[in-house]
Amino acid sequence: MRSLLLLAAVGLAAAEDGLNAWLRYARIDRAGHCQGKLPSTIVTLNATEGSPVYTAGQELSKGFNGIVGKKVDVDSITTSSRGHHSRDTNATVGTIAAYVDSNPGAAARLPELIDDGFYLSVSHGSILILGQNERGALYGAFHYLSRLAQGDCSDFTLTSNPGAPIRWVNQWDNMQDGGTHGSVERGYGGKSIFFWDGKVRDDLTRAGQYARLLASIGINAVVVNNVNADPKTLTPANMDGLARIANAFRPYGVQLGLSLNFASPQTLGGLSTFDPLDQSVITWWQGITDALYQRIPDMVGYLVKANSEGQPGPMTYNRTLADGANMFARTLKPHGGIILFRAFVYDHRTLNQTLDWKADRANAAVHYFDGLDDKFDDNVAIQVKYGPIDFQVREPVSPLFSHLRKTGSAIELQISQEYLGQQAHLVYLAPMWKEILDFDFRVDGKPSTTADIISGRRFPRKLGGFAGVVNVGTNTTWLGSHLAMSNLYAYGKLAWDAKASPEGVLKEWIRLTFSDDHKVIDVITKMSMASWPAYENYSGNLGIQTLTDILLGHYGPNPASQDGNPWGQWTRADADSIGMDRTVWNGTGFAGQYPPEIAAKYEKPETTPDNLLLWFHHVPYTHKLKSGKTVIQHFYDAHYEGSATAQTFPQLWRKLEGRPGIDKERFEHVLYRLVYQAGHSLVWRDSINMFYFNKSSIADVHGRVGNHPYRIEAEAMTLQGYKPYQVSPFEAASGFRCIVTETNSTQGTASTVLDKVKTGKYDVAVNYYDMALGNATWELYIGNDRVGKWKGDLEYNLGRAPSPYIDGQTATRITFPGVKIKKGSTLKIVGTPDGLEPAPVDYISILPEGIVD
Ligand code: GCU
Repeated sequence: MRSLLLLAAVGLAAAEDGLNAWLRYARIDRAGHCQGKLPSTIVTLNATEGSPVYTAGQELSKGFNGIVGKKVDVDSITTSSRGHHSRDTNATVGTIAAYVDSNPGAAARLPELIDDGFYLSVSHGSILILGQNERGALYGAFHYLSRLAQGDCSDFTLTSNPGAPIRWVNQWDNMQDGGTHGSVERGYGGKSIFFWDGKVRDDLTRAGQYARLLASIGINAVVVNNVNADPKTLTPANMDGLARIANAFRPYGVQLGLSLNFASPQTLGGLSTFDPLDQSVITWWQGITDALYQRIPDMVGYLVKANSEGQPGPMTYNRTLADGANMFARTLKPHGGIILFRAFVYDHRTLNQTLDWKADRANAAVHYFDGLDDKFDDNVAIQVKYGPIDFQVREPVSPLFSHLRKTGSAIELQISQEYLGQQAHLVYLAPMWKEILDFDFRVDGKPSTTADIISGRRFPRKLGGFAGVVNVGTNTTWLGSHLAMSNLYAYGKLAWDAKASPEGVLKEWIRLTFSDDHKVIDVITKMSMASWPAYENYSGNLGIQTLTDILLGHYGPNPASQDGNPWGQWTRADADSIGMDRTVWNGTGFAGQYPPEIAAKYEKPETTPDNLLLWFHHVPYTHKLKSGKTVIQHFYDAHYEGSATAQTFPQLWRKLEGRPGIDKERFEHVLYRLVYQAGHSLVWRDSINMFYFNKSSIADVHGRVGNHPYRIEAEAMTLQGYKPYQVSPFEAASGFRCIVTETNSTQGTASTVLDKVKTGKYDVAVNYYDMALGNATWELYIGNDRVGKWKGDLEYNLGRAPSPYIDGQTATRITFPGVKIKKGSTLKIVGTPDGLEPAPVDYISILPEGIVD
């Protein structure tokens, strides 16, 4: 009986909250087969407790037990006890130096490793894992465990070196909760795991767990605080706290980095200036840096956002960006630290779209860094966002990479999907990153990919690499969504090896996170690989950028918000034409910032790829693309295609219910988001299409835009206690209007007789607005039967930026499948407001089988 119960338990996938992400060490089917191939002892060389090699030993033991069910002890030896570790059936882990120390003869057989690199050899139950440094040894152990967890216990030998030394993540965590962005700016996975109430948290368990995940994908440093840095981060008490974070990271070989506020000498230090060339300022920063290194001897260095979006910087004193960066570099130099100085420098207050056709935020980075390439100290690298604007769904690669030949550069990618669905939409980003990394600038007419530039291969330089804005939070899923974690995994893998295949990496992640069930792999791969193209299609294509609300949450559709303000994310759309003219001959000149071959290509619409056409050119809506379609028809079609793809995601996912590795908890969590995404993609589709239809007055040749025969507009229903409401932006509501309850405390009813609907079964969709001001309730009735009741509680269930408005951020849909309807019956919605949420309803769709609208 007991064994029967046990079998039953093994058959069911255990509930998962996501905390272990891809490091679950779940038992594999081939456990028995691998058991005989595992060593009987794990030997760590010269490991002190808490060191990365020590951690590697612990991880191996944990992994063997979890994945195969074999308990293997860890034996820690110092290399003076020579020969001890050379037993055949050991797993030996340590640095190359420690190994050679006790096996001098082995030196000739071992490969050359660079910093953080590792060598792995698995043969007949004996495993040798050697790192160039301790952290490399830990990376090797994680690599071995990853193979084992994917069911591979065959013999192999591997030498792996990182493609670039800088493999950092940036957290945009605020010391304080609240503010405009909560405790993690543009974070959608909960509060900061590091800070609370202006201090470093007492309990840093999550910080250690985060470091473990990061180490397993080769990330070597975390900048823990927001680039919009709080000077108070540098108080002595907070420095003590930062040292505790560094302690939590250290067992995983992850170093701590810090964002600085340029004005700190004045705001925190009480000096009269923060001029980087002023001796009192230099002395102040040296004191701070020394105090930090006293507490955190292995601190990696600094990250600085200066003269950008209102942040202070050297230009406040007419000093150059290099003057600013070098000041920090010199304080760090004696300690071996480095500084990443951000190229995201622009003034969001002075650009004028109306008066100046040539004004262009995209020009800013190259403009500000012009002439500085040979001015930076050698422990400075420039951190450049992948595109010249701001993490859009598609941008050309920032031309600044091709200008920095003497100065190291690191590419800034954003794992946190600020403009890309905020983890409420599935968008697998690695294919986009790959295109960016593979982009060839043709500097001096020679192959010059982004990846080769940042790695220091194209222009030999010591510093360079990757910085990823991750913004995990206290949510057990880290990012607020299980599927979004593929982005973090892929980020680490590409930072290690920019040649890695996005699809290959994804499959690896699926096997580790869920299982190697072929259906699980097929479905998640299919959805993920389709997700970026789909999101681009329904959020903004042809290089127009993500047409989101750039003044509020950066989440839902609001194309009008792009223009008419100095933020410079302009589209210049009018009644006849659209796009930014960035040509040299007639526009902002941005195209000319690229090396000649590329500049020539972008200068003309004929040679500009369609997917960047509107980035570089201002053209009529009737301009014909290479596909033969007009720009406007492409918009309409792409938005329909993209949202149609998103409709397939929940259908595909449902096929995985009960499959190996798909536990109920994660199944439901993912399904909730995919259903939401399918609904919100329709909001995107209709808003954007309606906006441009309204602007251009050009009809969709397929007659879909503005024509929705299955919809009943709420404002056209019989209203009692509900009243019509004009929505702004207009396109965020079907028919431009919705209904809201007449007061915040009285119910409303909207009803209609379904006299045109044939008796039958339908999917009934209700589009409504779920604002962050309360939790209204809606009930849907057909005749006297209640079809469903639901609450406006998305703000608790999705981490995306909450909005208090009736707009494209809050517009959403709920669908009731297979509802029986009799011709002539009455459909009724009863809305009960809550707080300041007036139970808004946009429309109801009565959909025959196979139709979604
Ligand atoms: C974006 C983002 C800001 C962030 C800034 C930056 O503009 O919306 O929240 O501070 O980028 O990268 O510095």
